Amino acid sequence: MLIMGLETSCDETAVGLVDAARQIRANIVVSQLAEHQPYGGVVPEIAARAHLDHLDDLIQKALAEAKIDWGDVSAIAATCGPGLIGGVMVGAMMGKAIAAARNLPFVAVNHLEAHALTVRLTHNVAFPYLLLLVSGGHCQLLQVKGVGHYRCLGATMDDAVGECFDKGAKLLGLGYPGGPLLEQTARYGNPRAFDLPRPLVGRAGCDFSFSGLKTALRHLVARQKDPILSSQFKADAAASFQASIAAILVDRTQHALDMLAEEKQSITTVVLAGGVAANQAIRQQLKQLASSYALAFEAPPLELCTDNGVMVAWAGLERFRLGMTDGLDTATRPRWPLEELISFPLAENSGRR
Ligand code: KG4
Ligand code: ZN
Repeated sequence: MLIMGLETSCDETAVGLVDAARQIRANIVVSQLAEHQPYGGVVPEIAARAHLDHLDDLIQKALAEAKIDWGDVSAIAATCGPGLIGGVMVGAMMGKAIAAARNLPFVAVNHLEAHALTVRLTHNVAFPYLLLLVSGGHCQLLQVKGVGHYRCLGATMDDAVGECFDKGAKLLGLGYPGGPLLEQTARYGNPRAFDLPRPLVGRAGCDFSFSGLKTALRHLVARQKDPILSSQFKADAAASFQASIAAILVDRTQHALDMLAEEKQSITTVVLAGGVAANQAIRQQLKQLASSYALAFEAPPLELCTDNGVMVAWAGLERFRLGMTDGLDTATRPRWPLEELISFPLAENSGRR
C-alpha cells in the first residue's frame, strides 16, 4: 500500500509518498517564502498561483525520488480544507484529476487531521491521546480517540499561537516567517527580563487567548526611547514573549489532563503537533508536564511539524486502510472543524497503531 499526499492549504506546496510499512518514500516541500516576503505575510492569491506553478513538477519529482510509477500508487490523498481556499482547490483538483485519469481511489484529507495523526507515522503512539495542535491558523486541545474521532477540549478565543509568534516577530522587526526567527532570537535573551501577561493562566477550562500578550508586546516596544531596537532588547523581549506563550500552553494542557483524569478517561500519550511544535522551548516544557503526570510525550520530527505532503499521505493511508475513500464531488472547505469529520466505528480503528 503506497499513498501519495498533496498539500496546498497555505504557503507550502508539498507532495509526500508513504507506505503501509511507515516508510517515507518521498517528502518534497517547496516553501513560497520569497513570494510572500515583501508583504510580511501570506497573500492568498499569490499562494494559489504559486501552487499551480509548482505542483505537477513536484509530483513528478516525488515519483522519481521514490523510483516508482503510477502503477505502484494505491490511492491519492489531498488536503480539502481547512485553509486558504484558492490553494486548497488547486491541490484538491489536482488530486481528483489524477484519481480520475489513473483510476485511483481519492481520499479527502482534513489538514488538521493530517497534523493530528503524523505522530503515528513516526512514533508508536496508540489511541487515545491528548493532542495540543498549535499552528499558524489553529490552537486547540483535542482528545484523539481514533481516526476521525476528535473531541475538542479547548480552543483559542482570538489568535492562533503561530499567528501570535508571527506578530510578535514582526513587532520586534525580526522578519518573516516569525516563529522560527523569534525562537532563534529568544536563545540569546532572558525569559524573565519583562513581565508579560499570560492570559487565562490559572483560570478554569482549556481555552486559550493570546491577544492581550500581543498588545503588551506592542506597548513594550512603543515605550522604548530609541526606535531602533537594540539586539539585547530584541532577545530579552523575544525570550519573555516565548516564555509567556509556553506558560499558557502548559497551563491549558495541564487543565485538559486534569479534566480527563476527573472524567476517568485514560490516554496513552501527550502529543504536540502543528508548525509551532517545531519550537524547542515549548517541546521541552510539555515533555516535563507529561512526565509529571507519568505520561509519554511525543512530537513529530521538526521537518514534519510544519506543513508537508507526508502528513497528508499518512492521514490518507490511515483512512484508506479503514476503507474510507471519497467521491470526486467532495467539496473543498475553508473551515472544517475536526469534530465535523466523517468517522468510523471506534472499535475498528482503536486497536491499530
Ligand atoms: O502548521 P503550519 O506549518 O501551517 C499552518 O497550518 O498554519 O504552521 C505554521 C506556523 C507559523 O505561524 C510559524 O511561525 C510557526 O508555525 N512556527 C513556529 C516555529 N516554526 C514554525 N513557531 C514557533 N517556533 C518555531 N520554531
Ligand atoms: Zn498546518
